[in-house]
Amino acid sequence: MNIIITGSTGLIGLYLLSKIKQENYLIDCVVRSTSNTQGIEEINLKINYFVGDTSSVETWDKILAQRTPEVIVHIASILHTEAIVESLKKAEKNPRLIVIGTTGIYSKYRESAEDYKKMETRLDEYSGSYCLLRPTMIYGSHRDKNLHKLIKFCDRYGFFPVFGPGENLIQPVHADDLAQAILTALQRPHIQGAYDLSGGTVVTFRELLTLVGKLLGKPVRQISLPLNAGVWSATILENLLKERSPVRREQILRLQEDKAYPHDAAQRDLDFFPRTLEEGLGQEVELMRSLGMISS
Ligand SMILES: NC(=O)c1ccc[n+]([C@@H]2O[C@H](COP(=O)([O-])OP(=O)(O)OC[C@H]3O[C@@H](n4cnc5c(N)ncnc54)[C@H](OP(=O)(O)O)[C@@H]3O)[C@@H](O)[C@H]2O)c1
Repeated sequence: MNIIITGSTGLIGLYLLSKIKQENYLIDCVVRSTSNTQGIEEINLKINYFVGDTSSVETWDKILAQRTPEVIVHIASILHTEAIVESLKKAEKNPRLIVIGTTGIYSKYRESAEDYKKMETRLDEYSGSYCLLRPTMIYGSHRDKNLHKLIKFCDRYGFFPVFGPGENLIQPVHADDLAQAILTALQRPHIQGAYDLSGGTVVTFRELLTLVGKLLGKPVRQISLPLNAGVWSATILENLLKERSPVRREQILRLQEDKAYPHDAAQRDLDFFPRTLEEGLGQEVELMRSLGMISS
């Protein structure tokens, strides 16, 4: 079976390639000219590369002129779906699409929620079959964009600011569990439609900080601050530093939202049984320790 994979140099992609190693697939990875493929090389898989930008129709036109894939696993960004579907239509090819979306689609503060919805509609109009997997916040290693920074900060400073009550619910999901769900979707071609993929534990933000303290073996002080203070600071930082700002206004506003979503459908159809947060974060902390990224 020929599979094209995007996002293979990222957190989910590398976990997926490690799992796919055992399968007898013919794999093409779409990478950018700037992508660091060292992680892929270390997995030691026979892979063909296409170099391009997955948001560009031209990239897909070039790939589809050379390949008729059975499946495209699109991890890089659901926002590129339009380019893929347009190119597939031109090429008159209709492989199964497995696309990584986001539960951010449910947010009333998420600026891109409308764009995500538009892309989900495009996917729904696609003439072939598709499976859309929507993760919650992803964690799993020093490559994640979320919890590893929080762990590092807590380790270094022994405190973390809590804007507002800090009682909002979150349900982070481990990237390795997501990779397993993608692999299962690959192995079950009859599975179609959208699935929310959340982690094995629902916690409040305050409970997350307590857990991080427990895993680091030292308490993390929770500094309570008014939500408005966070919104103002993030707005100022974003205006001054633009893309380099460590925090975005939207992230602070979203602290008011519960971001826990059931994954019963995925459990039923994809045997999705994600690990608990204590187990997954424990593994991440251990990994960060072994890499010398945290002291305790
Ligand atoms: N982070 C979260 O908490 C979160 C939550 C829900 C959903 N998601 C979704 O999960 C997916 C990615 O997860 P991840 O954690 O594996 O991300 P990641 O580690 O940041 O990896 C992103 C991957 O996509 C590739 N990529 C991005 N833009 C590209 C482009 N224009 N052309 C070609 N390749 C491109 C990157 O290539 P390079 O190596 O060149 O950068 C990298 O391989 C995204 O669809 C994201 O929307 C993320």
